Formats: sequence, structure tokens, C-alpha cells
Amino acid sequence: MDDQSPGLIAIYPGSFDPITNGHLDLIARCSRMVSRLIVAILKNESKQPLFSVNERMEMLREVCAVYPNVEIDSFNGLLVDYAATREARLILRGIRAISDYEYELQMALMNRRLRPEIETMFMMAGEAYSFISSRLVKEVIGLGGSISGLVPIPVERRLKQRLLGE
Ligand code: PNS
Repeated sequence: MDDQSPGLIAIYPGSFDPITNGHLDLIARCSRMVSRLIVAILKNESKQPLFSVNERMEMLREVCAVYPNVEIDSFNGLLVDYAATREARLILRGIRAISDYEYELQMALMNRRLRPEIETMFMMAGEAYSFISSRLVKEVIGLGGSISGLVPIPVERRLKQRLLGE
């Protein structure tokens, strides 16, 4: 790599409603392998999110501040087009269980068809996090269960405020 080269840029796309420790583990591990990792929130979701895009970006910025090569952004439209505008050659996705695989495979193959020059890379979720999802975290805390250790502390605080009025 010469001094002019931006190096390998990766996009980690998702809803992140909100970010969990499973996402954060992937961000930490991938950020060590690439020059720049852009964590990008999809803006125009059909499902009703708990947190606005701005709130999700704030939480991501807060918990990713320790990783100097991680940037937080949001995007509209096709992921591969956004990746191309950011000069990213890699899309990062996490796989927890085999049940994630089918949907992820479909997306990866469609994205490859749209832009073959952009590669999808799957990373296995850390074993301590393989059962965590944003959806379950919201359900558990909303019903009064503990989510300690499943999401970063600032995120736990926001979830308690939003769902329990604390
Ligand atoms: O965290 P999620 O909700 O599983 O992330 C899904 C996401 C945002 C990666 C996916 O919905 C996406 O890439 N949407 C952008 C629109 C797009 O490119 N659609 C075609 C995908 S093959």
C-alpha cells in the first residue's frame, strides 16, 4: 500500500436499533483488520424503530469513540451504491446462528449481482453474544428483565429511559 492509498474501507450496515454488545464485538474485531470501518444505519426502514436515526447515531458514536478508524454514518437506497460512493470494497455482516445464514446469503448474492466488485465478509458473532439481538433486548427490558452485559451501559440507560420511563 502506498501513502496515497486509502487502504481497505469496509461498511458495516444495519438497523442498530439499538447497538448491542454483539455488534460492538464485531466492530472491535473488524476495525483491527481494515483501514476504515464505516458503521452505517439504514434510514428508510419500513419497520417502526424504537430510536430515531439520530439517536442511534449518537449511541454508536458514543460507544465507538475508542476506535479511531471507525466512522458512523447513515444511508438511503441501495447498500452497494452507498458503499461505492464511500469507496468501500467490503461489506461486513455478522452471523450468529445457522438461521441467520439464509437471509444473509440472499443479500450477499444480490449485492454481488448488483456490484460484483464489492465483497461481503461474514464474521461469526462472539460466542458470548450469539444469542443477543436488538429485538430480544428490547422485549426483555420492556417486560422488566435484566439486560446487563448485553448492551453497552449508555445504551442500557437510554433503553430504560425510553421503555421504563426511568
Ligand atoms: O440490521 P439489519 O436490519 O438486518 O440490516 C439490514 C440491511 C440494512 C443491511 C439491509 O436491509 C440493506 O442493506 N438495506 C438497504 C437496501 C438494499 O440495498 N437492499 C438490497 C439488499 S440485497
